[in-house]
Amino acid sequence: MNSVYLNGKTLPIEEACVSVLDRGFLLGDGVYEVIPAYAGKLFRLDQHLERLNNSLGAIGIINPHTHGEWKTILQKLVTEHGTDDYSVYLQVTRGVAAKRDHVFPEEVIPTVFVMCNPIPPVDDTILQYGVTAITLDDIRWKRCDIKAITLLANVILKQEAHDADAAEAILIKDGMALEGAASNLFIVMKGKIITPPKSNQLLPGVTRDLVLELAEVNGIPFKERPVMKQELLNAQEIWLTSSTREILPVTKLDNERVNDGKPGAFWINMIDLYRQYKQQLKEMA
Ligand SMILES: Cc1ncc(COP(=O)(O)O)c(C=O)c1O
Repeated sequence: MNSVYLNGKTLPIEEACVSVLDRGFLLGDGVYEVIPAYAGKLFRLDQHLERLNNSLGAIGIINPHTHGEWKTILQKLVTEHGTDDYSVYLQVTRGVAAKRDHVFPEEVIPTVFVMCNPIPPVDDTILQYGVTAITLDDIRWKRCDIKAITLLANVILKQEAHDADAAEAILIKDGMALEGAASNLFIVMKGKIITPPKSNQLLPGVTRDLVLELAEVNGIPFKERPVMKQELLNAQEIWLTSSTREILPVTKLDNERVNDGKPGAFWINMIDLYRQYKQQLKEMA
């Protein structure tokens, strides 16, 4: 049975129903998080809950739960699912209003939904050969720092990448490469890891921050600075990071090989550090 959490209850997914007047359904008025759980343990939970709190604050929804309450809700659902690896999807919408109206309703209770989906292991061929990406114009809005459920632009961009047999679209605005449609961007240039700085043009990725933390702790040179599209084409390495896909090496971009077309030495080192970090978490009591 695949059970989910909806507004205080745990129930089979087939029985979980939300009103058609929910503002998430009608207006995309809500935010979400995706949190990995390895061997029953939530990964970087505090960082995800902090980002959730920021997203909620940015759209004027009072966080319906304390940090401790979230922890209990999420951990309970994960524990019920067992010790395989899961991505925990949590969504908070502004709630169900009496009628469809853009203006925030006065009294409304947020809808809280959580579900677990298995994380498929990363394909060996990806680790060996890397993935393909294409560059596309960033057609999104000006608050990409909010993890909003309103994902139409991302959906279109990701589909365009899929139709081009690419794993991801790297988004370009004013000549700058910002992030992927569902991932953050890193390049390696002259022996240094570079990622665009946080701004309202990209999501402050939890995996991004962990990669920077691992670089810092392990003495790997890094810099947060804007990345020009032209630099992508000349990069030693390109990586894409996200909670469910970890760190992917991009070995082909817009039909051209990235460097020698193989996952690079910096990536091999970083993915190893990332895996070690994950392993430590799994072994923690
Ligand atoms: C647009 C976008 N950027 C970056 C990320 C990576 O964020 P995280 O590492 O927190 O999963 C995601 C994740 O879904 C995303 O949708």
